[in-house]
Amino acid sequence: MTKVLDIERLAVLTSGGDAPGMNPAIRAVVRTALAHDLEVFGVEGGYDGLIHGAFDRLEARDVGGIMQRGGTMLLTGRSKEFRTERGQREAIHQLNKHGIDALVVIGGDGSLRGAHALAQQGFNVVGIPASIDNDIWGTNMAIGVDTALNTIMDAVDKLRDTASSHQRAFLIETMGRECGYLAVMAGIIGGAEMVLIPEVDATLEEVAQSVEDAYKRGKTHAIIIVAEGAKIKTQDLARYLDEADVGFKTRVTILGHIQRGGRPTAFDRLLASRMGVRAVEAAVNGDFGVMVGLQGREMVLVPLEDVISRQRTANLEYYAMTRMLAR
Ligand code: F6P
Repeated sequence: MTKVLDIERLAVLTSGGDAPGMNPAIRAVVRTALAHDLEVFGVEGGYDGLIHGAFDRLEARDVGGIMQRGGTMLLTGRSKEFRTERGQREAIHQLNKHGIDALVVIGGDGSLRGAHALAQQGFNVVGIPASIDNDIWGTNMAIGVDTALNTIMDAVDKLRDTASSHQRAFLIETMGRECGYLAVMAGIIGGAEMVLIPEVDATLEEVAQSVEDAYKRGKTHAIIIVAEGAKIKTQDLARYLDEADVGFKTRVTILGHIQRGGRPTAFDRLLASRMGVRAVEAAVNGDFGVMVGLQGREMVLVPLEDVISRQRTANLEYYAMTRMLAR
């Protein structure tokens, strides 16, 4: 394969919350870069690793056997130092010191902001979206979302078994920061009675009414999915429902970090592999300051400027679907 631009050394890092599928993305970046005769370096520990010069040369064998592993072999983190001007200057200094011509950043919203900051200072950067929250503008799906949804679905199925046996209402809290994507999708695939998300206001009275209605209709359980960013907080809702005497007794399950772990699904492995390949192709073609995005069935390049200046929110048509299907 031929190089269009004269880049010789490419580095890759993972940053922010880990997401299942980061490993297959690293593997794809490393092996595609090697196929283009580039030297590849892994940066250990995200932006902190960049600042402290934690670069390791990677060969094809170094990324063998990681396809099926959750987490990230390069380690990750949220770097406070990198948010400062000094941190970014040091990061660029280290990149130059190691002779790196281009950097691939695999991560979520905050990590892509970091990538944009480097691009603005003239460094060659390509982003790959990876975050279970699916709150990144410019891509239908980020790496890790599908695996997290499967984990949530599994948990909801199990919780429904015990909820039905005891005739209880379960409040199940999902991650997602300020985006209700995971909660809405979990509501549809988990058959929830109600979904609470940051994008839609609801009152405690409305939720209580909906649970009581489910009881009166003869349901043996009620499943309420609460996004962590919803205005009504899970524990407040649990207290309110118990005091309101809605028929069912209430139990709370906060799914937490279990949503971030586990073997990436087939979908995430494929998405990560395609994005990794496309990111390196962008680099050898000299397309920088962009993120690889999945739009329709295509891998496209979206300017990082657009990615960081827009907000991806839950799809309200899907939210309406959760209401309609909860009968
Ligand atoms: O962005 C991914 C995410 O898992 C969010 O859903 C959640 O709010 C946050 O990270 C948790 O962060 P931490 O792992 O630092 O507790």
